[in-house]
Amino acid sequence: MTSPSSTDAELDEEQLASFHDHLKKSTRVLALLGAGLSAASGLPTFRGVEGLWRTHDPFSLATPEAFDADPALVWQFYSSRRQMASSAQPNAAHYALARLATKMPGFQALSQNVDGLSERANHPQKQLQLLHGTLFENPILPALAVPTLGIAPAQHRTSEGAAEHENELDISDINVPLPFITIDDLPRCPKCKQRLLRPGVVWFGESLPGPVLDEVETFIDADKIDLILVIGTSARVTPAADYIKQARERGARVCVVNLNTDDRPVGRRNKDWFFQGDAAAIVPALLMPITEACP
Ligand code: APR
Repeated sequence: MTSPSSTDAELDEEQLASFHDHLKKSTRVLALLGAGLSAASGLPTFRGVEGLWRTHDPFSLATPEAFDADPALVWQFYSSRRQMASSAQPNAAHYALARLATKMPGFQALSQNVDGLSERANHPQKQLQLLHGTLFENPILPALAVPTLGIAPAQHRTSEGAAEHENELDISDINVPLPFITIDDLPRCPKCKQRLLRPGVVWFGESLPGPVLDEVETFIDADKIDLILVIGTSARVTPAADYIKQARERGARVCVVNLNTDDRPVGRRNKDWFFQGDAAAIVPALLMPITEACP
């Protein structure tokens, strides 16, 4: 039997009731957040339909080696994602999670997202761990103001090519050649003026930011954990995905919110909850007993 929730997500009433019961008894809660959380805000995921890694090669864009090989291309990729994120708005799920944080001191959100939407939903900073960094760390230079999602292989970016296509820009066409930029257009260290600055995100093959790892470890080791919410993530990237297992080992029950039934984290248990659908519609309904409770 399903019941229409306030946000029109059709949720199984029994599942929802048992989840709410557990949430109301919980004091220490983790959430692992992924790109699916921001899908309703219009941002692409990575591995889903039209996901970034379906149309772009992660190893020529999101590794230290890629940056060494072609820093201009990498900067243009992250600048276009930053522009998309800037023009997107946090959705109801971002706000509900931020509200949960203000109501539950023992709540920590571990975000894999670099889009800044949780921050813009006023999620308290102390309860938001940015596992993969942020697109908004370094300054954006005018030369990097590129069409969103327009990534063309390096060989297309010759000055002639750019001049030739100048008036033909179609920002949704991923084969649009990019404005021609040189290494001199890229941001440099404000102090030495020499060293190239890099986008403030964690790339494949790199470890997560030390202070963030410490914060998460301190929280996990401090006491039992009642619940971990796994929202809009394929849970395929480590160490982020490992936090699900660590939370379980601390006694946590697992609640997954995902559009895709195949994307359930490995090792699921009978006592887990799985809510299929759009995070922006489901998360507010799940957190309502806390977020809508009178102070
Ligand atoms: N609501 C809920 N879930 C959704 C929605 C939605 N509207 N849309 C998509 N999803 C789910 C997909 O089914 C998928 O399981 O979100 C998940 C997105 O998975 P990925 O694209 O793999 O993104 P994510 O898990 O965040 O990737 C982790 O990988 O590429 C790196 O650094 C990058 O942080 C990223 C990490």
